[in-house]
Amino acid sequence: MIGVFDSGIGGLSVLSAIAQALPSADLVYLADTAHLPYGDKDDAFIRRRVLAIGRHLVDQGCTLIVVACNTATAAAVAALRESLPDIPLVGVEPGVKPAAAASKSGHIAVLTTTSTARSERLSRLIRQHAGNVRVDVLPCPGWATRVETLHLDDAGFAEAARLHLAPTLAAGADQIVLGCTHYAFLAPVLAPIVAGRATLVDVANAVARQCVRLGGASALGHGGLRLLTTAHPERLQAALPALGLKRLAVRLNGPARLSAV
Ligand code: DGL
Repeated sequence: MIGVFDSGIGGLSVLSAIAQALPSADLVYLADTAHLPYGDKDDAFIRRRVLAIGRHLVDQGCTLIVVACNTATAAAVAALRESLPDIPLVGVEPGVKPAAAASKSGHIAVLTTTSTARSERLSRLIRQHAGNVRVDVLPCPGWATRVETLHLDDAGFAEAARLHLAPTLAAGADQIVLGCTHYAFLAPVLAPIVAGRATLVDVANAVARQCVRLGGASALGHGGLRLLTTAHPERLQAALPALGLKRLAVRLNGPARLSAV
């Protein structure tokens, strides 16, 4: 069984790709809704949550864990590896490498939470994979919370996003990395803003391919899905159709459940 978690519903974008790549895997998704957003918390807080959730997913029977959250990966995947040495882990990190490789202008932008933006792990990723490429790191406070409200087509937000991206686009960024799993659900708002100038880069499919590589026996099951959350199970359940994820809804083994983690 594969466990996938995020601070909220953002990781459903990754879960969806994993479900498609591994149709017979049994999946558990945990949304730490009681503690979101992670993006404005300190590293020690995020680490505590990640370690508790990792342990909980193992107790539920998960033998492969996907940290479907860039913020949690940056702050805590190393600690999680230490605490669960026998469990294969897949972290989600901003697609700096594919974006830098695809850039024709030699200039990319990475949209992240405040926490990821200041992380040493992102600095290292940029040093390793974007040597000669200019990288603008743009923290986007409030965007993940906006996705959680499921009000994605708000004209005021679209205008704020346009203003936020205007300087980097004007300066020539031609790849815009969605460096937070929530932002995948903002693609319909962001795509028209960058159209003709830049491409949005998301790593969900690459993460799913990594799960296929590591899956082994963890990926063999009955194609079921359990949804767990630390608050508001009804909202997590409602998010599937609202985000166009009916494909996931058909795998559900039952209604979303509250989990004490
Ligand atoms: N979805 C998470 C990420 O990928 C963060 C959202 C939050 O701030 O909780 O970074």
